[in-house]
Amino acid sequence: MKTDWKKRSNKEAVRDAVINHAKSMLGTSKGYLFLPGWDPDANEAGQCFQLGVEKKLITPETRCIGFECDGGVVDNISNFFATKYSDYDVKVRHSYLEKSRLEPNSIDFAFLDFTGNVNEDTYHWMRNILAPALTENAVVAITQPFGREVPELFNLTKERLATDLDLMRKALMKQFDLWGELDIDNAPGNIWGKYTLVVIGLTIFKCALRGYHSQLAHEIMVYHDKTETGNHIPMYTMIFDQIRPRTDAPVYPELILRKEDKTMTTRSKAAFKAHTTRRANALFAKRSAAAKKAWRTRRAQA
Ligand SMILES: C[S@@+](CC[C@H](N)C(=O)[O-])C[C@H]1O[C@@H](n2cnc3c(N)ncnc32)[C@H](O)[C@@H]1O
Repeated sequence: MKTDWKKRSNKEAVRDAVINHAKSMLGTSKGYLFLPGWDPDANEAGQCFQLGVEKKLITPETRCIGFECDGGVVDNISNFFATKYSDYDVKVRHSYLEKSRLEPNSIDFAFLDFTGNVNEDTYHWMRNILAPALTENAVVAITQPFGREVPELFNLTKERLATDLDLMRKALMKQFDLWGELDIDNAPGNIWGKYTLVVIGLTIFKCALRGYHSQLAHEIMVYHDKTETGNHIPMYTMIFDQIRPRTDAPVYPELILRKEDKTMTTRSKAAFKAHTTRRANALFAKRSAAAKKAWRTRRAQA
């Protein structure tokens, strides 16, 4: 995982990495899904799109579909593409991405350059709308902030990763090098390491696309970005590639559970707790037996 807190042009570097990676995987994109955004200083929209055009990842044949939830800037964005990129096939919709419907098998590249944290709606959308819209071997990049206030989905995921999905968390942290400076197995008081939110974000994505194979394509990029108010906020971007339906059973669990799944989880949490208690008691008994033996030996020697 890369952390570069000082570099000014962090966002440009991350955007570059995303576009370069998609270029290397796809050559040219057939269907691009994006959040163009509006830059009031430059009077421009969609820097990611523009870079894609520059690198010839996006061509006039690419069907581009952009979403913007902010009604105050959506007309600027539409006008920008209509005047500056009139030869290109760009549709801009005024809507939350989570409310969108996408044509199945139409997107080979998606850059979900979010400004806020994903929530339950995003999870359901990724699972039910985004996944079937992806073509075989699609590339998806997703940006998330290290928000202090997180949606309920984060608390729910964190709780499950600490209980019934404990093994999955350990596996993810090992596999994706997510424990920062901590050794997760030997720091039991602080096994979440520095990147709790990254572990949660990765879990949410992996579980939402549980019926699909997806590969983390690049190091997870952790960086500081500047908001409209001039504040610097830490963000991270993950790029996934080779996304395609799994032929075997999903390896990741369903995160948002139905009632009967919740009963199973409660049972499995109880079993996990009982196991932890038994293990702790056994360890205590072992330690106290060893301490007694050592004391007896010392007394005999004295
Ligand atoms: C970070 S900016 C996009 C920057 C752009 N990708 C670039 O490279 O220049 C994100 C934009 O998407 C909008 N946005 C954030 N979350 C959204 C969502 N869930 N649905 C629709 N629009 C969203 C924000 O209002 C903002 O204008």
